[in-house]
Amino acid sequence: MAKPIRWGIIGLGKIAEKFATDLVNVPHTQLHAVASTSIERAQDFARKFNVSNYYDSYEAIFKTPDLDVVYIATPHTSHAENAILCLKNKIPVLCEKPFAMNIKEVQKMIDTARENDTFLMEAMWTRFIPVIQKTQELIAEDRIGKIKTIHADFGFVAPFTPERRTLNPALGGGALLDIGIYPAYLSLLLLDYPTDIHAVSTFGQTGVDETTSFVFKYPQATALMNATFASRTRTEALIYGEKGYIHLPERFHESRTLTLYETDKEPITFTFERESRGYNFEIEEVNNCLRNNKKESVKMPLSMSVKLMSLLDEIRQKAGIHYEGIDG
Ligand SMILES: NC(=O)c1ccc[n+]([C@@H]2O[C@H](COP(=O)([O-])OP(=O)(O)OC[C@H]3O[C@@H](n4cnc5c(N)ncnc54)[C@H](OP(=O)(O)O)[C@@H]3O)[C@@H](O)[C@H]2O)c1
Repeated sequence: MAKPIRWGIIGLGKIAEKFATDLVNVPHTQLHAVASTSIERAQDFARKFNVSNYYDSYEAIFKTPDLDVVYIATPHTSHAENAILCLKNKIPVLCEKPFAMNIKEVQKMIDTARENDTFLMEAMWTRFIPVIQKTQELIAEDRIGKIKTIHADFGFVAPFTPERRTLNPALGGGALLDIGIYPAYLSLLLLDYPTDIHAVSTFGQTGVDETTSFVFKYPQATALMNATFASRTRTEALIYGEKGYIHLPERFHESRTLTLYETDKEPITFTFERESRGYNFEIEEVNNCLRNNKKESVKMPLSMSVKLMSLLDEIRQKAGIHYEGIDG
């Protein structure tokens, strides 16, 4: 029987709860420790998920015996600091997206992982969603021919809570880093790094980008993308090729179905039912890497995180998105 992988979580907010709900249902996986800035939150979370070790500081999590890996679920602005803390303690890390605030921070995280010979991966869960893997397979099988255009968007109306991380510039708020990362990642995954980038943003009351629209140019293809906190958009992706197209319906980055439209053929819909939210797939990838003593994932390698962060930095620079005291 596979050895259980014992997980810890740092930062017990919204995503930590969703992630934990999936984690406790992954076979041979245990939620072993949680750390918060608040002892009440740590206690409540521990009670809810039956966790024996809980702490009111992130540093304290390293006291936990037999801790195999930590999932970092704090705001973007804390990712680098929290990941580096774990890596220096030789604890493997799965860190939420965006990996950090800029490429300098990402490089420091990777250097620390290598210096300490410790596993590090960005929690880009989309990479492991079966529909996304099926999309890649269909493209590799030449079912739609060469990709010519990608259209992808992500939008919802963010409630006006200026202190919360989504709209708060001090916590890396804004549509691009929070949700624009998903269409950007889809293009990177399917077409690699663009040769040219165009981007524009509009800004909300708190100064963060409310909407960012961006276009990637490739030698023989383009990608048109949008991220917004101002409207509920379809949050779908269309991948158009020379011989047909693939439609990933709402919300494309975690979709359970896709439809393949081949020229002059009936459309085919592929469905991948699941009971989980979809975080189990990235958890299983981390478990497998750790069981096989891998220091990074082949599917979501650190080189991909470098490309993704460089892409976000470049979009920010083109669209004029700045974070006071953070830009590097
Ligand atoms: N993969 C996905 O589907 C997905 C979905 C949503 C969000 N995310 C990512 O996950 C991260 C967290 O998002 P979230 O929606 O869970 O945020 P959230 O609800 O605000 O929770 C973040 C938690 O981080 C801790 N924290 C540490 N320093 C903080 C500070 N200065 N201000 C506020 N909180 C601080 C707090 O937990 P403690 O007090 O308990 O330490 C807080 O509850 C973001 O980077 C986001 O991009 C990913």
